[in-house]
This record gives sequence, C-alpha cells and structure tokens, in this order.
Amino acid sequence: MIEITKLTKRFGNLTAVDKLDLHIGAGDIFGFIGPNGAGKTTTMRILVTLMEPTSGGATIDGLDVRKKGKEVRRRVGYMPDFMGVYDDLKVFEYLEFFAAAFGIEYRKRKAIVEGVLELTDLTSKQAAAVDSLSRGMQQRLGLARVLIHDPKVLILDEPASGLDPRARIEIRELLRELKRMGKTIMISSHILSELEEICDRIGIIEHGQLVFGGTMDEIRPRLGIQRKVRVKVLGDDGRATELLTALPQIQQVEKVGDYLSVTFREGEPTDGVIARTLVTGGVDLVYLQPEQLKLDDAFLKLTKGIVH
Ligand SMILES: Nc1ncnc2c1ncn2[C@@H]1O[C@H](COP(=O)(O)OP(=O)(O)O)[C@@H](O)[C@H]1O
Ligand SMILES: [Mg+2]
Repeated sequence: MIEITKLTKRFGNLTAVDKLDLHIGAGDIFGFIGPNGAGKTTTMRILVTLMEPTSGGATIDGLDVRKKGKEVRRRVGYMPDFMGVYDDLKVFEYLEFFAAAFGIEYRKRKAIVEGVLELTDLTSKQAAAVDSLSRGMQQRLGLARVLIHDPKVLILDEPASGLDPRARIEIRELLRELKRMGKTIMISSHILSELEEICDRIGIIEHGQLVFGGTMDEIRPRLGIQRKVRVKVLGDDGRATELLTALPQIQQVEKVGDYLSVTFREGEPTDGVIARTLVTGGVDLVYLQPEQLKLDDAFLKLTKGIVH
C-alpha cells in the first residue's frame, strides 16, 4: 500500500532522509521508530505531499506522491505531530469545519461527524470547547478529524507522545479498531515500547536510514534481547537460586520481590529446563512465567550516539 524507494531529502548539507526503502502492506499497522531528528516527520511529510523529496520517491495505493498529489491526499489521513489550537471552537464545529474543507456536502456532514465522534468515543464531548479537552481527548479528536474523508491510509506522527498510560491505551484500542476496519496505518514514535504491542511490523530509522525492518518477533533476537523468565517457588528460594545458577544456559538469577527473575544466555532455548531442574531437585514450583520484554533498552543501545 505504501512503497518508498531510495527516498532522499536534503536540507542544505544535512541529509534528513537517506536513500530510504520501505514497504508497508495493505491493512498493516507499521511502527516507524527512531530517535528525535532521525527523519520520521520528513518522510511522512513527503508521503502526504507536503514536501518534495530531493530524489527517490514513493507511491501510495499505486499513486506517485510527486505526480498524483490530489488523488494521494484523498486516500490519506495525516495527523501531524503538532496540531494547531482552535480557541473558541466546539468539538462538533471543529469536525464540521474539516468536513466542509474536505468538500463533503452539507446534508451529509452531520452523519459523518456523528460517526467519527462515536468511533473515537467523543460523542459526550461534542459540545465541549476544543481547548478544554485533555491531551488524550485532543489526540482522539485529531484522529476523528483525519477519519472524516474515510481515507484508506492513516499517517500518524507521534500520536501517543505526551499521553498518560490510560490515554495511550485508549489510542491503542482505537488503532486496533481502525485496523479491523481495513485501514493501513503508519505510526511514528521515538519510544519503541509505545508501539511494540500494536504493530504488525516495525522499521527503525536512524540518521535517515533504516537500520531494522521486520516483525517484532524477528527484531527481538537481532537486537540481542535476552529472554527472561519469572520463577516463584514454595518456601525459601535459596535452593532454587543455587540449582538455576548452576545451569550453563542461565546467565543470571535475581531476586525481585517475591519471585526470581531468571535471565537466559543469548541463543539458548528456554523450554523445559527450569521446571525440570527444580522438580528434580525437590523444589516445589508455584509458577513459571515469561517476562514481558521491553525493548527500549536495546533500542537505546542500538541508536545511542549515532544520531547527532
Ligand atoms: N524544514 C527543515 N529545514 C531544515 N532542516 C530540517 C527541516 N525539517 C527537518 N529538518 C532536520 O532534518 C532532520 C530530521 O528531522 P525530522 O524529520 O523532523 O526527524 P524526526 O521526526 O525523526 O524527529 C533533523 O536534523 C531536522 O533538524
Ligand atoms: Mg518528528
């Protein structure tokens, strides 16, 4: 659905986007991740026809973004990283204004605005002033706005930044719903863990170049993330620590709260060995649980110092 080929953008001596190749399939949620200044916004602005590339190009739904601007804009909903404030406007007026700007007929506007309000869970706020909304609601309103012309593709620049965890979950749920509706979504962030749970595929961009591309499952081992397992045993865990530390597959055993956090050496299979060792060693196992892997540390390590 989105094809980027050798895309390059220079600002004077600075190469913001550097021969970038990227493919985003129809119906995917694609996470575009990189530190500040990596070139995410520049790439997105080129895709939505707000900026000309220096060389290379991109197509959306088969349409060249340089030559078919009007058709591309009809298919794309773009939410910029910074939205203007519209002081005295009410939520409903704000959306009607954009419906009018998109050329939607007067008699159809009301139903469309009601539809996007419902989808973004803002129906109860339709008479509120835009600037009175919380940041989370403003971001949902931003999404409501880009949905008005029912675009196939959504390009969202850091929609979760600055949100509290609850608002972030609401945005995530909304994005899942949009995916179910068949939208293709490109979403950027400088925080990997913000996107890891919702994206089908991610691309990590650094200094205008793609350093990783693939599914989360493909990326984890390449980032050198070690697997961790939580182990809780009945009674004193001293014996369990001793048994597990002695295993060649295991790098470290740490006590965290009331359980042990066990780190495997890179590349070692994790299945079975802990339970087998403990049970054979006479320790009663209460539970064994893989730890949720957070990728931000690996991501920081990966990108540290390379971007200026
Ligand atoms: N209009 C511009 N003029 C000059 N430099 C720019 C302009 N827009 C972006 N840049 C520079 O290009 C690089 C990439 O910026 P940007 O695409 O905004 O990165 P990101 O969105 O990943 O933080 C940065 O070094 C930024 O300062
Ligand atoms: Mg940006």
